[in-house]
Amino acid sequence: MPSLNHHWPYPALIAHRGAGKIAPENTLAAIRVGTQNGFRMMEYDVKLSRDAVPVLLHDDQLDRTSNGQGIASRLTLAELSALDFGAWHSSAYSGEPIPTLSSIAAFTLANQVHSNIEIKPTTGDEAETGRRVALAAQALWAQASLPPLLSSFSEAALEAAQQAAPTLPRALLIEEDVPADWPERLERLGCMGLNLNDRFVSQALVQAIRQKGYTVAVWTVNEAERVRELLDWGCNGIFTDKVTTIRPDTL
Ligand code: G3P
Ligand code: CA
Repeated sequence: MPSLNHHWPYPALIAHRGAGKIAPENTLAAIRVGTQNGFRMMEYDVKLSRDAVPVLLHDDQLDRTSNGQGIASRLTLAELSALDFGAWHSSAYSGEPIPTLSSIAAFTLANQVHSNIEIKPTTGDEAETGRRVALAAQALWAQASLPPLLSSFSEAALEAAQQAAPTLPRALLIEEDVPADWPERLERLGCMGLNLNDRFVSQALVQAIRQKGYTVAVWTVNEAERVRELLDWGCNGIFTDKVTTIRPDTL
């Protein structure tokens, strides 16, 4: 039995993909909107360009969130930077570029906003993405009061992140039902806790995780009542899209 007692040092409310429903997800515009609405922590997805630069993007494919096509990791940063990542959302954001992790580190640090970097590797590139993103985050946040939380559905990415930058906190994302061996997985990966899908979260599960000293964050919660319930159960973090209605100052 591990004698862990992890502390969640971050704000409880986290803007999902920046403010990814109000502005184009995973762009500086979205992170700016989340910040303007009082959120002090942003979640965003990070993968590698072909020339191994960490950039913000959720999908493997470019098609949904840009005017490009095909697999994003086959393009260099220069090629990605020529695309429009805002017009698909609305004309108001036409010309919005893909952000580098470096540019988002600069913005969030300047605005005293914390980060949850979700490592989102292209299939087959899990360990290298984990390694490179962790090394980049370690360097970019070297002077920060609080390091970014790294998370991933990929255990290979988290393992590589642990080896590359062991002092950065990590959380394991689970898509559906939490596997029975979750404590062993967290111990092996040196994670502080689980980031869970709201559809698979119960009070008993939250209590079990918290009793073992691990943290729980839940995504994506867009109803204020449910946010309050999860916080009452002892959840540490809540990811939301609703940054204009579920505001930190109204809870
Ligand atoms: O990190 C929580 C959540 O963002 C995971 O799901 O698909 O929105 O990246 P997804
Ligand atoms: Ca995400």
